Amino acid sequence: MSSRPGVFPVSDEWKWRAWLDERGYREAYQRSITDPQGFWSEQAASLSWFTAPRKTRDVSFEPGEIRIHWFEDGVLNASVNCLDRHLHDGSRAAIIWEGDDPSESRTLSYAELHAQVCRLANGLRSLGVGKGDRVTIYLPMVPEAAVAMLACARIGAIHSVVFAGFSPESLAGRIQDCESRVLITADEGVRGGRRLPMKANVDEALRHCPQVSTCVVLRRTGGEVGWTEGRDLWYDELVARQAPACEPEPMGAEDPLFILYTSGSTGKPKGVQHSTGGYLLAASLTHKYVLDYHAEDVFWCTADVGWVTGHSYIVYGPLANGATTVMFEGVPGYPDSGRFWQIIDKHRVSIFYTSPTAIRSLIRDGEAPVRRSSRASLRLLGTVGEPINPEAWRWYYEVVGERRCPIVDTWWQTETGAIVIAPLPGATATKPGSATLPFFGVEPVIVDEHGRILEGACEGMLCLRQGGPGMLRTIYRDPARFVRAYFDAYPGLYFTGDGARRDEDGYYWITGRVDDVINVSGHRLGTVEIESALAAHPEVVEAAVVGYPHDVKGQGVYAYVTLKTHVRPTAALREELVRRVRRQIGPIAAPDAIQWAPALPKTRSGKILRRMLRKIAANEAADLGDTSTLADSSVLDGLIQGRREAATVALAERV
Ligand code: WTA
Repeated sequence: MSSRPGVFPVSDEWKWRAWLDERGYREAYQRSITDPQGFWSEQAASLSWFTAPRKTRDVSFEPGEIRIHWFEDGVLNASVNCLDRHLHDGSRAAIIWEGDDPSESRTLSYAELHAQVCRLANGLRSLGVGKGDRVTIYLPMVPEAAVAMLACARIGAIHSVVFAGFSPESLAGRIQDCESRVLITADEGVRGGRRLPMKANVDEALRHCPQVSTCVVLRRTGGEVGWTEGRDLWYDELVARQAPACEPEPMGAEDPLFILYTSGSTGKPKGVQHSTGGYLLAASLTHKYVLDYHAEDVFWCTADVGWVTGHSYIVYGPLANGATTVMFEGVPGYPDSGRFWQIIDKHRVSIFYTSPTAIRSLIRDGEAPVRRSSRASLRLLGTVGEPINPEAWRWYYEVVGERRCPIVDTWWQTETGAIVIAPLPGATATKPGSATLPFFGVEPVIVDEHGRILEGACEGMLCLRQGGPGMLRTIYRDPARFVRAYFDAYPGLYFTGDGARRDEDGYYWITGRVDDVINVSGHRLGTVEIESALAAHPEVVEAAVVGYPHDVKGQGVYAYVTLKTHVRPTAALREELVRRVRRQIGPIAAPDAIQWAPALPKTRSGKILRRMLRKIAANEAADLGDTSTLADSSVLDGLIQGRREAATVALAERV
């Protein structure tokens, strides 16, 4: 394969420097499929257990007996794996924190991180938090976010981190769903030179969450905050009284480690529930093999801890491996668009893991900001979160990595917990735009719309016949929805919600979501949630939201809105609708374009034909396919005409 055009072979240097070469990968992968018990019991030994598991994989995707259990009789604690077992070299840097302002950075050694986690864990225990209790974490990108997660893990509490960009209403929904009694937040966040009103958002959210008895508040900026006596408590005052050692809670491997809410194609966000043992093993193994972590590396994942990528590759994966992990509070363009590369030089980052959106946003500013840095420490580049277009891949490879650093394009989901399809840098020749081959234990299959499994080169819906130990265990307190969302569509298989193509070399090319989920800047949004926010406006009859191609964000949010008769479609109303979505869900969900739609294309039974709306939004109206199912096909012409007028609206940034 190596001499073919469009294929980037593994260099000789990488064949020996990485953990596995091509043969090593093939043998390990084969064994993970043909001898899963033997393979996984060996892998499990890389974690530190109170009681080593004798059981390994016990998984069934069969109808009526859906079950995902791994290492069920093993007992461990995730924080011990991430901290205590590295204390023999306690002065080693665990977290390098880089502030939004370039003059601010902080390094926490493993010994310091351990002490901070123990103090907070003791503090939480003093508030009555124990095994199985849920704690919601709503924090900006500061080391205390990792401290809070690990403190929960230490005492067996289940954390639910909510992305700091979510609105008070979204936060309240997530607190209510898992019934947390304790919330950890900050006075304010700082991003791109601006302050975010975290505590004020919390105060608004908590008006709807009477069960929250304690709100722990970290001082990040020292800004003014509202205060509710008896409920609010300063973080520093809580931990100051606590001992820097804390007995870890022994956890069964299947006990939940965390819940993370994510958007699905229907209804409210789902509380994806992850396990302690299998999840930690999946995060640490992929961090080692795919991101090729070695002891001397400085590892930087630019995601936010509020998303699964931050959970697995800022916190759990790197810390379980004893790595130095970089955490960045700011944004790629502040104070200028050379910031990423300055940070790489400043902290001598060797492995850099970011999103296609970040890369595309930096391409706009040209090569000069990159060239002004040395990037001599870099050896490996990764991407995650959305399909990477081949042009962005090449720019990343040629300009950022100077053709020296392989790129690992890693496909996975909140549900898979860790990377499941990706190249290994010493083993897999890469093709720009392809996530390539499955990781250990993962069996991807492609099915057609009738659920038939396709063989060889093909295109269809991406399912998994086997996932790894990091797979979600259930939807928190909603096992029926868990089965419905992932296992009903194609019996015997886990359905990913993504479309994919497999080429003649067996490489996977992810084509994007095929359900009503859109991926904006790598953030997953349910179109239904945005539609309900729009439709709640008194002047709106209904709304339909689809994704459309966007130069930087990958996908943008395109909303078709039908107004009540006699309501005038004005620019002011458009902006009001955008503001409403920002308020209800968060700025990330704000529509990039709103098109007034006198009517929406529907079937005779009233179902909106989103496939057609997607085509119109993408300016592919010539290819609308079969329109015979439409109740009234004249609706389409009006929409196609309206699309031309709506084409250049870019609202999200203005409002
Ligand atoms: C998309 C983020 C193409 C995909 C880890 C998936 C990708 C969704 C890639 C999950 C990739 C993630 N190539 N598409 N390398 N990685 N996706 O749950 O549509 O926030 O289903 O997890 O992102 O998003 P989530």
